[in-house]
Amino acid sequence: MSSNAGWQELHFTARKDQVETLEDWLFAHGALSVTLEDEADQPLLEPGPGETPLWDAVSVTALFAGDHDVAPLLQTVPRELVKSIAEAPVAVADREWSRVWEDHFHPLQMGNRLWICPSWTSPPDPGAINILLDPGLAFGTGTHPTTAMCLRALDTGIEPGARVVDYGCGSGILGIAAARLGAATVLGVDNDPQAMTASRDNANRNRVLEAVFTAVLPDAEVIPSWAGSADWVVANILAGPLIDLAPVLTALLAPQGRLLLAGLLANQAKAVIEAYAPAVDLAIADQQEEWVLLAGARR
Ligand SMILES: C[S@@+](CC[C@H](N)C(=O)[O-])C[C@H]1O[C@@H](n2cnc3c(N)ncnc32)[C@H](O)[C@@H]1O
Repeated sequence: MSSNAGWQELHFTARKDQVETLEDWLFAHGALSVTLEDEADQPLLEPGPGETPLWDAVSVTALFAGDHDVAPLLQTVPRELVKSIAEAPVAVADREWSRVWEDHFHPLQMGNRLWICPSWTSPPDPGAINILLDPGLAFGTGTHPTTAMCLRALDTGIEPGARVVDYGCGSGILGIAAARLGAATVLGVDNDPQAMTASRDNANRNRVLEAVFTAVLPDAEVIPSWAGSADWVVANILAGPLIDLAPVLTALLAPQGRLLLAGLLANQAKAVIEAYAPAVDLAIADQQEEWVLLAGARR
C-alpha cells in the first residue's frame, strides 16, 4: 500500500460467533473502525431487548490509516476468527472515508461531567467538559468499552490538583480527560511514537498545555521522577502487558494512589489481580460487554 493513500480497508468474512473477537483483534492492531454487513443478503428480524442481532455470515471491513503497514495483519490474523480473507488491502479516498466516519461517530456522554465529541458536531451540552476528539493514527476515540469505563471512572474520581499517569495513552484521551477534569499534571506514556504526536495534537485541540500534559516513551528520563507520586495511574492496555507492567505501574503510585486497569476480559481478571496483589488490592469496579475495569488503591 502506498503511503499517499488516505486510508485503506481490509476485508474479511466471518461467522457471527467470530465477529466480536475479530473486531477486538482488529482494533488492537490499529483499525480505526470496523464495519459489519450482511454477507448473504439475509433479512434480520426485529431484535429482542438487549439483543445485538448479527447475520449468520458477516462481511467485516476494517479501516486503517493509509500508511499503516497492514500486510503483516493479513498473515497473522488468527484463522479461527475468519471464514475468508481478501488478498490485498483496498485504498479508500479521503473524502469518501470522512463521510463514512462522520455518519458513524456522535457525541458520547461519559459519566456526569464529561462528553467526547467529534469536532464536526456541536457539543450537546455546552456547559459540560467537552473533549474534542477525531480519528487519528493512535487508538482511543472513546467508543471502545474499555476507554469508556476508564473515562467514567475518571469523571467520578479525579480530584482537583491530582497527579495522573495515563500509561498506554494512545490518542491521549484519558490523560486529556483527566486534565480537563482538574488534574494538575498528567504524564502520558506509550511505546508507539505515533501516540506522542496524536496526544499532543489532541491536547492542543482541547487547550491542554504541555506543562499540564506531556506524552513520552517508556524509557523517558522524566518517568523515574514520578516514582511514588501519582495520585492516579490509569492503563488501558491488554491483560498480558498489564501483568508485565505490574512493578512499573505500582512503583509510580503514591501511598493510597488509585490504580485503574482496563483492556482485560472478565476471565482474565483473576490473573491481573494476582499480579498486582503485592502492592494493590484490585477488584472489578465496572463491566461493559465482556470487558472489565479493575480499580484499587496502593497500600
Ligand atoms: C488500547 S490502547 C489505549 C489508548 C487509550 N489510552 C484509550 O484508553 O483509549 C493501548 C495503548 O497502549 C500502548 N501500549 C501497549 N503496550 C504498551 C507498553 N508495554 N508500554 C507502553 N504503551 C503500551 C499502545 O501503543 C496503545 O496506544
